[in-house]
Amino acid sequence: MTRASLPGRYPEIYESARRDPEAFWLDAARALDWARAPERAFAPDSGPYGRWFPDGTLNACHNAVDRHADGARADQVAIRYDSPVTGTKRSITYRALRDEVAVLAAALADLGVGKGDRVILYMPMVPEALFGMLACARLGAVHSVVFGGFAANELAVRIEDAAPKVVLAASCGIEPNRVVAYKPLLDAAIAASRHKPEACLILQRPQGPATLVAGRDRDWAEAVAAARAAGRSAACVPVAATDPLYILYTSGTTGKPKGVVRDTGGYLVALAWSMPNLYGVQPGETYFCASDIGWVVGHSYIVYAPLLHGCTTVLYEGKPVGTPDAGAFWRVVAEYGVVCLFTAPTALRAIKKEDSAGARIADHDLSAFRTLFLAGERADPDSVAWAERVLGRPVIDHWWQTETGWPIAGNPMGLGLLPVKHGSTCVPMPGYRVEVLDEGGKPVPPGTMGTIAIRLPLPPGCLPTLWGSDERMRSSYLATFPGYYDTSDAGVIDADGYITVLGRTDDIINVAGHRLSTGGMEAVLASHPDVAECAVIGIRDALKGEVPCGFVVLKAGVDRPTEAIERELVAKVRDEIGPVAAFKLALTVPRLPKTRSGKILRATMKRIADHEPWTMPATIDDAAALDEIGDSLKGRGIGAAQ
Ligand code: COA
Ligand code: AMP
Repeated sequence: MTRASLPGRYPEIYESARRDPEAFWLDAARALDWARAPERAFAPDSGPYGRWFPDGTLNACHNAVDRHADGARADQVAIRYDSPVTGTKRSITYRALRDEVAVLAAALADLGVGKGDRVILYMPMVPEALFGMLACARLGAVHSVVFGGFAANELAVRIEDAAPKVVLAASCGIEPNRVVAYKPLLDAAIAASRHKPEACLILQRPQGPATLVAGRDRDWAEAVAAARAAGRSAACVPVAATDPLYILYTSGTTGKPKGVVRDTGGYLVALAWSMPNLYGVQPGETYFCASDIGWVVGHSYIVYAPLLHGCTTVLYEGKPVGTPDAGAFWRVVAEYGVVCLFTAPTALRAIKKEDSAGARIADHDLSAFRTLFLAGERADPDSVAWAERVLGRPVIDHWWQTETGWPIAGNPMGLGLLPVKHGSTCVPMPGYRVEVLDEGGKPVPPGTMGTIAIRLPLPPGCLPTLWGSDERMRSSYLATFPGYYDTSDAGVIDADGYITVLGRTDDIINVAGHRLSTGGMEAVLASHPDVAECAVIGIRDALKGEVPCGFVVLKAGVDRPTEAIERELVAKVRDEIGPVAAFKLALTVPRLPKTRSGKILRATMKRIADHEPWTMPATIDDAAALDEIGDSLKGRGIGAAQ
């Protein structure tokens, strides 16, 4: 079998996008309402590698909300908010959603927010967060959502880089084991940032109200009530398709996160294409993406794609387990008639651990449910096979990145399901010309491992650039392999064109589906006064896929107990990066294993920790240093000897 001989409509669709991308994407663009319809799909000479729909204008909020509110879907539920952590449920129709968004947009306009201005959101999974994102889109302002599990320092870096006019925040988030006060983190972040927003709109939650800073902070409910009482309502502002809809920061290989820019037109076209063709979902159906609006998956498949497509989206403020049990997702699927569930493999592993027999599934009527999609990290074949068995439905692994905004590869449900191969993310979506390259940048034969790269131009939806820096876009992604976007993922493409993603080629690790930089954690450890040098690696974890583990060498003369220093290091990463880093292991070692040229042997350290066979690198400076790593891991019950 080759890609061309795969069953269903996929080969023909993929090939038509490859043969005539202009015609393919102009046709796909018809799924949207445009203020000015594009006559050209692609301008190769703009930006670092070209821009999509250079002459089109449109508004994202109009497409996601108003056109449904003005049409047959006005009384259809747009958002099902389901919050087991607060015991709240709320259904919001498209008509009600438009009203909420238009009034909030007016309140934002009163604070001076207009086209092109940035607005940062630091909010949990509540409907107001979606209103905020859509209100920005309505005004042509650029939103940037920061995940609630990040600490003040990470928020400060983003505030400084995006320079928002206004910040939208909630007083708190709710984790199963605690209320997380967001407001003190926001205050600390603003204090630490050189850029100061003009105003903050604070959503007071009864579980943890915040103290407002006079002159800067406004009460969200009061601001909205005042705009409503004054009869204020903002209209949708058309923007260029190439204007940014949002910036989403993601871990880079340095401490400074990358501000991934998402343009408006290309993104919406790609999302609109994906809903029926990849996910096999029709307008009016209910889609449940159990991610968080702080991640790209949440932007694309909790907010924009389902709404664009006239679906009902589920906004779930809870966990896969513990809120209250491992049947939580199945309860939501049954209660709202969900046809498609999208989650991370780590969530599936958490459910499997608590309910390996799938007994909780039988408690619920899943008759509407058709497909489970997984992404965010490698889906281990065991968990996929388990889910297929207990659900009796297709379980589809698909691969994407914050940078791409929508899947690079997957199994296109809507075009005819292709044979499933466990461990593989299936075939590239239209517009993605995916190749595996060797270190010299040459394509390798099928079945050979290398770096996965995408031939330029990237399809619509993918990042056109990084915020404020075309140069960083070029040096980060386009310089390694001229003519390609470097995904920094290693993998294999087989003879059928199926892509298997094996892991990152840089210092990024995936912890419970959350993308984190070990380099960023090393910077935090290195700033501890007792630390001379350090290395952080991701080690295998049965639940979270990977967890970080830090090795530190103390400065000469430090005679404090190492346990106390290790505890301080764990607390420091939590304070400076956030609880989401799940950094719980700091180990003091006499020295770090290095090559004779001074490079730390992180890959070998990882193999030791992961119980994988390893060989002593020929270039090692001092072999005993690796034994010491093995010993320190064994001291914590991790890893195996050579
Ligand atoms: N605000 C504040 N803190 C948060 C947070 C948020 N939005 N999200 C997570 N945290 C905290 C957690 O409370 C936890 O803190 P703790 O160390 O005090 O326990 C820490 O960050 C790590 O969280 P997490 O990695 O989520 O681990 P967990 O043990 O709480 O839950 C899972 C494990 C598997 C249930 C959970 O990771 C999960 O649902 N993952 C799916 C991730 C996902 O959907 N990713 C999107 C990519 S598609
Ligand atoms: P993020 O930018 O947070 O979406 O993380 C992107 C990274 O997650 C990718 O570069 C991969 O390393 C990893 N990833 C995402 N989806 C998959 C998948 N289906 N299989 C393997 N790795 C994945």
